[in-house]
Amino acid sequence: MLLPESEPRLYSLSRQLCGISAHTLCVVFTGLMVALAKPGSSLFSWHPFLMTLGFSFFMTEAILLFSPHSSPVGKLKHQTKARLHWILQVLSSSCAVVGLVVIFYNKHLNGKPHFTTWHGLIGVLTVCVVVVQSVGALPLLYHKLAKGWSLAKLKRYHAASGLLTYLLGSISLLLGTCSVWFMGSVSGYTWYFVAFCPMLAALVVMSQVTNAYMAKKRLQY
Ligand code: HEM
Repeated sequence: MLLPESEPRLYSLSRQLCGISAHTLCVVFTGLMVALAKPGSSLFSWHPFLMTLGFSFFMTEAILLFSPHSSPVGKLKHQTKARLHWILQVLSSSCAVVGLVVIFYNKHLNGKPHFTTWHGLIGVLTVCVVVVQSVGALPLLYHKLAKGWSLAKLKRYHAASGLLTYLLGSISLLLGTCSVWFMGSVSGYTWYFVAFCPMLAALVVMSQVTNAYMAKKRLQY
């Protein structure tokens, strides 16, 4: 791994700043969605709430906890971080599955057609990928399930497919903010701010995962 001490100070500081902004914006984004959706006020209200909690909060924190610059649990052992990571990912996947069931059932009750928008289509693909990614992560916990695969190789594939899953989640969140319901719930420049949240978090996560992967590759040569 690339040691933070070997990086120029300004570079390390800017990455720290980006990480802190990602943590803050994800919490603000989730809080804003709670305020707008008012979970419990209707069956629909659970959908934006659970999806935001699952993707913007749990999944982002599950990845950022490995950040060498802005992890809230940076001092913990890697093994403990890995345990926290899968607990948060189980919470995230549960929110995603329940959030999908809720919107599907709500549309069914209202006699509306399913998966007719880009948000609905990318959204259902995202939840399927989340389920596959979760099942695919099991050999990392029970190595016997993937005989012939080294742990290093499994971790590399898990990181690459995890990044893809996260990006799909961010696109689904962004498309969710383009829905008629959301556009009608916010006014003025609020939409731009809200849309910026998943975009910044996606950039920070992308940079963290690719950097960790490239640093490992560099050390192999
Ligand atoms: C990663 C997060 C999300 C995923 C995976 C997701 C997934 C989906 C899916 C699959 C549907 C279609 C269900 C059907 O047609 O039966 C849907 C509908 C909907 N979602 Fe989301 N959603 C997410 C986040 C959000 C957010 C944050 C909002 C609000 C800001 C939102 C608002 C809506 C609305 C209004 C609908 C009904 C209209 C439509 O089908 O496009 N969603 N969502």
